[in-house]
Amino acid sequence: MKAAGRLDDLREAYVRNHPESCARHERAQAWMPGGNTRSVLHFDPFPLVIASGRADMLTDVDGYEYIDCAGEFSAGLYGHSDPVIVAALHEVLDNGLVLSGPNTAESELAELLCRRFPSLERLRFCNSGTEANLFALLTAIDATGRKRVLVFEDAYHGGVLTFAGGGSPMNVPFDFVTASFNDIESARASVKRHEDDLAAILVEPLLGAAGNIPAEAAFLAMLREEATRCGAVLIFDEVKTSRLGRAGLQGHYGIVPDMTTLGKNISARACPLAHSAARGP
Ligand SMILES: Cc1ncc(COP(=O)(O)O)c(C=O)c1O
Repeated sequence: MKAAGRLDDLREAYVRNHPESCARHERAQAWMPGGNTRSVLHFDPFPLVIASGRADMLTDVDGYEYIDCAGEFSAGLYGHSDPVIVAALHEVLDNGLVLSGPNTAESELAELLCRRFPSLERLRFCNSGTEANLFALLTAIDATGRKRVLVFEDAYHGGVLTFAGGGSPMNVPFDFVTASFNDIESARASVKRHEDDLAAILVEPLLGAAGNIPAEAAFLAMLREEATRCGAVLIFDEVKTSRLGRAGLQGHYGIVPDMTTLGKNISARACPLAHSAARGP
């Protein structure tokens, strides 16, 4: 059988075997554009609607079970019922949520993270990685009195900070200039060209969405040097990479940015590199 015919058969079987997912997707489309609020979760003809998760398994609304290889696209690496995490969540629920005052856990977590990351003197909690990057950029713009922000082609810093394929019409209207990731000479030239109005350089030490391309150490060192020279704020987006070492990738490279954004899971537990390097809290 030709590959196209086989694909059609598989597609028909998928539709036939998942009537509840199909019905729920159709209903959801009436109330949410595309039927969900996270476009990466969509695939044609309709995505599986997941009913529950346990350990490393997922169950969809039609009763099929799957091994969860997505791990919430890297934010859920501990699976769905890690006993330590479940116990901590129960403790939080038992003690009451949203207490209208500073709570006891936030300053402990802030201290733990500041002790780990040399670039963190103090920390502000936000609701998402996107929001963390927005706060960092707005802080840099305010602190420097400048407007321009250097970012890198194909970087993803959040739903309104996406630079694949020349950027997105949904990006926040900041004054962005882009340069090529890991291209030392052209990035240095961009900094020099814009240095009088350059508020910030925002960079992932590993270009995640573009295919997990690690930064060259010399590239990051050049950004550090140029940011210091011209007074721009160097921001490392470690929303995805913080777990790759005890002090994220900045610890691995030995480069201290001016600001760091963290998100997803902040942990060293799942990472062999961090296990071997683990010391202290
Ligand atoms: C490098 C990077 N920065 C920022 C974000 C945005 O984080 P959030 O989805 O929590 O807004 C992501 C999300 O995948 C990311 O990979």
